Amino acid sequence: MIVTSPDSTLTIGVELRDGRPHYHVEADGESLVAPSPLGFELNNGPPLRDGFEVVETTQRTVEASWTPVWGTQDTVRNHFAERTIRLREANGPERRLTLVLRAYDDGVAFRYRWPEQPNLDTLRIASEDTQFRLTADHTAWWIPDDHDNYEWVYRETPLSAIRDSAAAISYNSYLEEADGGAPDTSEKEAAPGTVNPPLTLRSPDESRYLALHEAALTDYSSMTLRADSETATTLHTTLVPWPDGVKVKASVPHQTPWRVIQVADRPGALVESHLLQNLNEPSKIEDPSWIEPMTYVGIWWGMHIDKYSWGRKGTHGATTERTKRYMDFAAQHDIDGVLVEGWNTGWETWLGGDEFDFTESYPDFDLQEIVDYGEEKGVALIGHHETGGDVPAYEQQMDEAFALYDSVGVPAIKTGYAGPIRPEGVHHHGQQMVNHYRRVVKTAAEHEIVLDVHEPVMGTGIERTWPNMMTREGVRGMEYNAWAEPNPPSHTVTLPFTRMLAGPLDYTPGVFNLTPEETMPDHRVLTTLSKQLANMVVLYSPLQMAADLVENYEGHDAVEFIERVPADWAESHVLQARIGEYTTIARRKKNSNEWYVGTTTNAEARTLNVPLGFLDAGQAYVAHVFEDTPDTDYEDTPHAYRVRRGLVTHEDVIEANLARGGGQAVILKPATEQDRQRHEGLE
Ligand code: NOJ
Ligand code: CA
Repeated sequence: MIVTSPDSTLTIGVELRDGRPHYHVEADGESLVAPSPLGFELNNGPPLRDGFEVVETTQRTVEASWTPVWGTQDTVRNHFAERTIRLREANGPERRLTLVLRAYDDGVAFRYRWPEQPNLDTLRIASEDTQFRLTADHTAWWIPDDHDNYEWVYRETPLSAIRDSAAAISYNSYLEEADGGAPDTSEKEAAPGTVNPPLTLRSPDESRYLALHEAALTDYSSMTLRADSETATTLHTTLVPWPDGVKVKASVPHQTPWRVIQVADRPGALVESHLLQNLNEPSKIEDPSWIEPMTYVGIWWGMHIDKYSWGRKGTHGATTERTKRYMDFAAQHDIDGVLVEGWNTGWETWLGGDEFDFTESYPDFDLQEIVDYGEEKGVALIGHHETGGDVPAYEQQMDEAFALYDSVGVPAIKTGYAGPIRPEGVHHHGQQMVNHYRRVVKTAAEHEIVLDVHEPVMGTGIERTWPNMMTREGVRGMEYNAWAEPNPPSHTVTLPFTRMLAGPLDYTPGVFNLTPEETMPDHRVLTTLSKQLANMVVLYSPLQMAADLVENYEGHDAVEFIERVPADWAESHVLQARIGEYTTIARRKKNSNEWYVGTTTNAEARTLNVPLGFLDAGQAYVAHVFEDTPDTDYEDTPHAYRVRRGLVTHEDVIEANLARGGGQAVILKPATEQDRQRHEGLE
């Protein structure tokens, strides 16, 4: 019982071994996943994994394409072969379990379904026993399993080393106090030997890249992966529990998310794949005309570097006056939105009681006046709901809170769950929160509001179904550079191939003052300025922030790049990459012939060639190249940059001379007659 990808390279199959289903995966005839057991243990009945017989199998092929509302690619091909295998216990209650297998050219996936049946109407899953018996000791990039937080630095180790190395990694907790508190860097232990997907793997001969993740996580708890205590290259599915230890509570019929194995011959192909989205349902939003990608600035970094406060203690950041100033700046520089945090009352109690009121502004913040001011200038106010993890309180206020933003004209909201989820014992990544996050997405859709979720559950492609779920954090983002151990230079060259396989990322790049000495003398950002620009292309987000204070942008020539870089793309290509070391990503602006190319490196200086073969032949382009200078270095001289401009064609190659921790950001715009007269070839 196998199914083969349209291009015949990948197969996934299922066989019964003594009545227990096992699946296996091959690529070009070579085993990637050896026969691995499937099944469940239940709290409310005997295990559902043995004694099965096959009742029926059916097969179909789908060849289609769809148009995302926004994204990295304007058309997505969805071509797969699928086999459905209906199983039934041969004896006893004859419970049924269906397996659905899919083979695409860029990966395979499977899910379990419980059809309606007489002897099983309630599911209390004690464990999902899906295993991944990988056939080689791959190189692995991973973060430890933490049921509440993905804000870790990725590690690169042999797959077999996960088993022993995950236990003690230093962890930086959130700011100790919302306002005026000392930044806190504490240690925390994650579950030993267990990782949080996406888990990215490279085969020993480097010919193959795999990524293990899940798609369409709906009414189920998140999957994490635990290394087997004996065969360290075998991974077991573990599910994030409810407070009472049960993993999933559901009624039949029900289904699991897809278990997904992406397969590629280069790291860039993992990034270019739309497998997760293809495994999700088409959009449920009939008229998505209100959903718009945006670049944005915000009253945000100022709080993280302790210049402003969220609440009343200290210099309140979110004032009417300051917001207007940010809106003026945005309007002048073609930036679509301004995020404002700390506009609503309750911040004095953040992480110590959380009494946020999502409809009451601080007296120095006039919500309607600000929205109206922005409207005149064509700038949206991006609202903010920090729950601090107090989900019951948020759910009580949610309808009113969304209705308020809707009525004043706020089209986008950033939400946050920075703090332990209440009631105690509920995890950020468990089923209860998966369902909460989805309720918020649906509520937002009813009000035609788009979302940027911080402290989220990992993306699993649901933005295809709910395109108002635009971006999310779920990463150790820029904020850490303000008050904790800074993210290492390799971090943002690792994220495209790890965290970002799960979908768009609100990392919040674009900081120009990399050493905020005035308020944070001991903290800094470990990149060059040019790398900050390049990251606005490399770290894709349909809501893309330029994170610095506007006064650090005003009068700075490099703002030209922020002004022009879009947040929505017609096509994207990873031109070169070595995970954690360097990458070049080229993207074409939606409905345009303009290209943006970001190249970044880790702590090593290097020269890379960027061939422009993706440009239209027979068309000259003006290249605007924002880059490190020979004197730039992320440690001592991060701010040194230069701009080169000149004419190029598809036959040219741009040299990227990257400083340590550096980057290069390029705009390629079709040349007008005037451009052709003004510019010479690129030096
Ligand atoms: C954590 C979020 O990641 C950050 O962006 C936000 O500023 C704080 N929580 C406060 O809401
Ligand atoms: Ca965060």
